[in-house]
Amino acid sequence: MRRPFAVAIGLDKNGHIMKNPLEYGKNKGKARAVVKRALITGITGQDGSYLADLLLAKGYEVHGIIRRASTFNTSRIDHLYQDAHVHGVRLFLHYGDLADSVNLVKLIYSLQPDEIYHLGAQSHVRVSFDIPEYTADVTGVGTIRILEAIREAGVKSRFYQASSSEMFGKVQEVPQTETTPFWPRSPYGVAKVFSYWATVNYRESYGLHASNGILFNHESPRRGETFVTRKLSRAVARIKCGLEKALFLGNLDARRDWGYAPEYVEGMWLMLQQDNPGDYVLATNETHSVREFAELAFGYVGLDWKEYVRHDERYERPAEVDLLIGDAAKAKKQLDWEPKIRFPELVRIMVDADLGLLKAAQSRSGVQSEWAA
Ligand code: NAP
Ligand code: GDD
Repeated sequence: MRRPFAVAIGLDKNGHIMKNPLEYGKNKGKARAVVKRALITGITGQDGSYLADLLLAKGYEVHGIIRRASTFNTSRIDHLYQDAHVHGVRLFLHYGDLADSVNLVKLIYSLQPDEIYHLGAQSHVRVSFDIPEYTADVTGVGTIRILEAIREAGVKSRFYQASSSEMFGKVQEVPQTETTPFWPRSPYGVAKVFSYWATVNYRESYGLHASNGILFNHESPRRGETFVTRKLSRAVARIKCGLEKALFLGNLDARRDWGYAPEYVEGMWLMLQQDNPGDYVLATNETHSVREFAELAFGYVGLDWKEYVRHDERYERPAEVDLLIGDAAKAKKQLDWEPKIRFPELVRIMVDADLGLLKAAQSRSGVQSEWAA
């Protein structure tokens, strides 16, 4: 299988960033104006990978910042390397880190992106209580680093900030809208409020086309394995196939507004296509508890969740966000955006995907289970 740095072609053969990747190989001499150029931070994450799919399908040249890791961390975008043979090279990866401002300035200056989607973050709420300072630095100050890099580089890039419904925290209004006051309940939420206001401030101070997407939870088969929905869908598959006997969870009463990630990245793109920047809630306007997710996910494969789900206080948070439900009326009116995949279908998509992965892995290793048979 191809691996990242055989194809990290934003770098030249000496490992230096190419000033203009369109001067590379068969693209040499092609006009810069032909395609829009986007830069994605967090391209290896759930949203970054779906956004890369979307922008490449729209004909963009896509650049992504990835972290150096001792293990492969590009599994969510590996499929795009294979497509490169068919559609030509339009995906470029660059090493970088949100803690490294010099590198960010260099990248943004050399790439001159038309659009910057800032999705990179330490995005796990529970973990942010364990590493609050790191979370503040990467999830909070990292945003100012990008915004300053845009100013320093003197580019006209449009900017998207991945703001979050976690900012509403102890909710002051139900449902939550663009005007609901923030009351964050975690170091992650606090860092996101910082980034939200930094984005508004740079828009007001310097006239940047900078927008906040206030996104409620959105999930998919590419969701990180430690978020509750994916933890559930994976466990359901493994229990159904007889590989596990129990699943340990924290607070089952928390309620979330869960949507489907591929639809939400379309909303991000729409925000940057508007003549004027703005802030938008993306949500389904439905709320369901973790317990309901568990009930539906286990029920879908004919199991009773109560027989398998156990409590472990390690997964509780020092302060919880009890209820999230968003009103995306502004996005509907101004962006013509609305979610189509609803809660029961989302649960089915995720469980089916994890069953499929497990069955494929089992057939590769020759193991059969009752489910796979
Ligand atoms: P995710 O899967 O956790 O992806 C986070 C991305 O950020 C990964 O590519 C990660 O790289 C990268 N990253 C982490 N630390 C970094 C650093 N120091 N420097 C550079 N990159 C770094 O998150 P997601 O679910 O796709 O969410 C995308 C964004 O939307 C995040 O900012 C998140 O906080 C926000 N958000 C998400 C939701 C949701 O429900 N998914 C809702 C509202 C807002 P590695 O792959 O190397 O770890
Ligand atoms: N992760 C996790 N693991 N959560 C659990 C567990 C467990 O074992 N048991 C119960 N929960 C509860 C959490 O306490 C929380 O109330 C809810 O399940 C959802 O947790 P997560 O899936 O971790 O997501 P989140 O809502 O905290 O944060 C996600 O959504 C935010 C948007 O509101 C992340 O994607 C954030 O980055 C994003 O901003």
